[in-house]
Amino acid sequence: MSSPVFEFTADHKEQFLRDGYLILPGFFSTSEAAALKQHADVLLRDFSLDGHPLTRFVAGDTLGDADSATAAIESKRVNDAYFLDSATKVSYFFEQGAFDSQTGALTVPKERAVNKVGHALHELDQVFKEFTFAPRVLSVVNGLGLFEDPRCLQSMLIFKHPRIGGSVPGHQDSTFLYTNPLSAVGLWFALEDCTKTNGCLEFVPGSHKVKPITTRMIRKRDGSVGTEFVEVEPQPNEPPASDVVYEDKDYVVAEVPAGTLVLIHGSIVHRSAPNLSDKSRYIYTFHMIEGAAE
Ligand code: FE2
Repeated sequence: MSSPVFEFTADHKEQFLRDGYLILPGFFSTSEAAALKQHADVLLRDFSLDGHPLTRFVAGDTLGDADSATAAIESKRVNDAYFLDSATKVSYFFEQGAFDSQTGALTVPKERAVNKVGHALHELDQVFKEFTFAPRVLSVVNGLGLFEDPRCLQSMLIFKHPRIGGSVPGHQDSTFLYTNPLSAVGLWFALEDCTKTNGCLEFVPGSHKVKPITTRMIRKRDGSVGTEFVEVEPQPNEPPASDVVYEDKDYVVAEVPAGTLVLIHGSIVHRSAPNLSDKSRYIYTFHMIEGAAE
């Protein structure tokens, strides 16, 4: 990193707590961003399709007969297992739109078919491990003053390749990283310029103070492989349950240049649009949670 520490000020913290997100342009240099992107491209180039469950994506979606329904269930089971296993691995996830619906074959080169690599890059990949635990990142995590025992988890490279990168609908990250008390904060690093046309982040400012977390993702309670969502009551320090539904006009588009760090409160409502442009959008992200929380 070009600078060992980052001056995370009281103003930064105030803005983060007020808006539910904070944009820090120039947190890392454009040359660092380019080097990380290049490393990401090496990962995309070098991973093997052998043994990857992508072949299972063939099933299910095209026909309504019993065989394809069975195949779809099997496909989902294999994919769920692959997803859960990825917590301690460097795994590769594909864009839905990267497969031919009839044959199940990839319609683009694998380098452009992957939408996510995760979820243990911060442990298993030396380049991203060093980046994640750099002193400058720690300055921000400590500067937030929200963690007694900060723990890093769920690191991901997220790709939106030109014209194939999909949208992410509005959501709150703590639904997926639920703790009691709530503690998740996302750190999101732009490895390329992120614009309205290649699918940058969009936030509903202040929504973390309006909408409590009312669902959480858990492992399946019946013991089978997979995840499910359950309803939860708002915690004491959250706003009361709200049925507010946000519309397009409520979202603020957060275009950021390469080298930007965006902090994302676990309860802020955010989304991103598909990449309709001819420019890729590579980002690296991970989350912090409180180790002392349940
Ligand atoms: Fe998110």
